Amino acid sequence: LTALMLSFALIAAAAFVVSGCSGSAFSGKRIVRISHSQSETHPDHIGLLAFEEYVESRLGDKYDIQIFPNEILGASVKAIELVQTGAIDYCVASTGNLETFDDIYQIFSIPYLFNSEEHYHSIMENDEMMKGIFTSTDASGFEAVTWLDAGVRNFYATTPIRTPDDLKGKKIRVQQSPTNVKMMEAFGASATPMSFGEVYTAIQQNVINGAENNELALTNNKHGEVAKYYSYNEHQMVPDMLIANLKFLQDLPPEERQVFDEAAEVCNRAERESWSDAVEEAKDIAKGMGVEFLEVDVTAFREKVLPLHKEILNENPKLRPIYDAIQKEAGSND
Ligand code: GCU
Repeated sequence: LTALMLSFALIAAAAFVVSGCSGSAFSGKRIVRISHSQSETHPDHIGLLAFEEYVESRLGDKYDIQIFPNEILGASVKAIELVQTGAIDYCVASTGNLETFDDIYQIFSIPYLFNSEEHYHSIMENDEMMKGIFTSTDASGFEAVTWLDAGVRNFYATTPIRTPDDLKGKKIRVQQSPTNVKMMEAFGASATPMSFGEVYTAIQQNVINGAENNELALTNNKHGEVAKYYSYNEHQMVPDMLIANLKFLQDLPPEERQVFDEAAEVCNRAERESWSDAVEEAKDIAKGMGVEFLEVDVTAFREKVLPLHKEILNENPKLRPIYDAIQKEAGSND
């Protein structure tokens, strides 16, 4: 059924493009479609509403921004492909899922890359460093216009994960990312890649024993109903990217392009401003759902996967300069 619905969505979206008229036939406005995988209370959606408001209050006579939440236009990799072909204009994509489009995005999947959220934010705010990453997928027909905070990723499962040993023999969901598969194997668990929207049912039906994500997955995606133990082992800080079809961006007249670029900044700010409160709120709600938050010995988890740093850098030498710059910044952050 989902596949069928997806095909309908694709055909509908493609029809707009083929007809050369992505605008509504009635208003004559160009409809700009933005897809994401979160609910309407999630900071990503709040950020995108700010994007919509910013563009429409300036160019509302020409553009109608439409936001599609909850993966309704397609899950993770599918949504990226829709942006790539221009069937839709923007989507929010985790860097985990962008890895297969350009392997520079592997950098964010390296576990324990950042030593604090401050360190992570300072790197993401470094435009000079990010420029090459944002434009790395130009050849694939899309580029990142801003980043969105997606917090710190931790394990959560149907049984408590207190030490790396507790992961032995467990099936844990990862994003569709080769580096994340590698990481999960290094942790000693068995990696089960699947899209975000499939995780709830997979846990409920015991296809997997758990997953890893920020706290909002427990509430916005209701995973706390089926997984009651959340462990603060802090293995990754993986950002989301707002990506756009490159031709759409390039075809905009300069003054309109500027409005869209500013809107991306506005989106970043609104999303990030609501992030910490959203995490606190998610924790409260999750506790009410019976989720237990466990403090664990982070060092034990870190030691398990630290050898991956060398391994990944050897396999993909182009990560080296970024990795070194990130390490340098870590020193200055201590
Ligand atoms: C986070 C992130 C999403 C991503 C998801 C996942 O929620 O914000 O972009 O898709 O994790 O694990 O798939």
